[in-house]
Amino acid sequence: MPQLQRLRLDHAPALLEFERENRAYFAASVPDRGDDYFAHFDARHDELLAEQAAGLHFFHLLVGSGGEVLGRVNLVDVADGSADLGYRIAERAAGRGLATAGVREACALAAAEYGLTGLRAATTLDNAASRAVLARTGFTPCGETELGGRPGLRFERNLDREEGRQRP
Ligand SMILES: CC(C)(COP(=O)(O)OP(=O)(O)OC[C@H]1O[C@@H](n2cnc3c(N)ncnc32)[C@H](O)[C@@H]1OP(=O)(O)O)[C@@H](O)C(=O)NCCC(=O)NCCS
Repeated sequence: MPQLQRLRLDHAPALLEFERENRAYFAASVPDRGDDYFAHFDARHDELLAEQAAGLHFFHLLVGSGGEVLGRVNLVDVADGSADLGYRIAERAAGRGLATAGVREACALAAAEYGLTGLRAATTLDNAASRAVLARTGFTPCGETELGGRPGLRFERNLDREEGRQRP
C-alpha cells in the first residue's frame, strides 16, 4: 500500500512527473492547472512548502514503493480549526481504494496531529468517484456550489480527536 507522506522539498521531481503524466486525465474532472504551473513548478513548490511551514496548509503525497507519486491528499487554507480537503489519484492507480484510504488517513492526522476540528470539501455533481470517496469517509452534503462552471455539492465532516488517534 502506498505511504501517505507530508510534502517535502525532495518530492518535487516525482510530483512534477505525476502532474505531467496525469494532466489530461485530471483536467477531465477538475480545472487544469495551466501552463504556468508546469513552467514554474519549482518556485511554486518552494512557496507551498513555506506556507505549509507557516501552518496554512497540510500537503500529503501517496508514494509507491519505488518513490513514485500515486496521489495527493491536501488540507488547505487552515483557519479557525478547519480546512478544505482536496485529492487526486494517478490514472494508473485509480479504482483501488487509494483515495478512500488516503482521505481516511488525512482525516485521522487532521484530528490527532494537526488539531483540526472540521473539514470541508466540494465536488461536481457528475464526479461519481469523488462523491463515493466523500460518502465513504464520513462527509455529508451541506449545500450546493459551482466548480469551474459546473454544478456541485459542498460537504463537511466533523473530526473527533479520539477517533483520530485510533486510526492509522
Ligand atoms: C476521484 C478520485 C480521487 C478517486 O480516486 P480512486 O482512488 O479511484 O477512488 P477509490 O478507489 O478510493 O474510490 C472510488 C469509488 O468510486 C467508484 N467509482 C469510480 N468511478 C465511478 C463512476 N463513474 N460512477 C460511480 N462510481 C464510480 C469506484 O467504483 C469506487 O467505489 P468502490 O470501491 O465501491 O467500487 C480519482 O478518480 C481522481 O483523482 N479523479 C480526478 C481528480 C478529481 O476528480 N479529484 C476530486 C476532486 S473533488
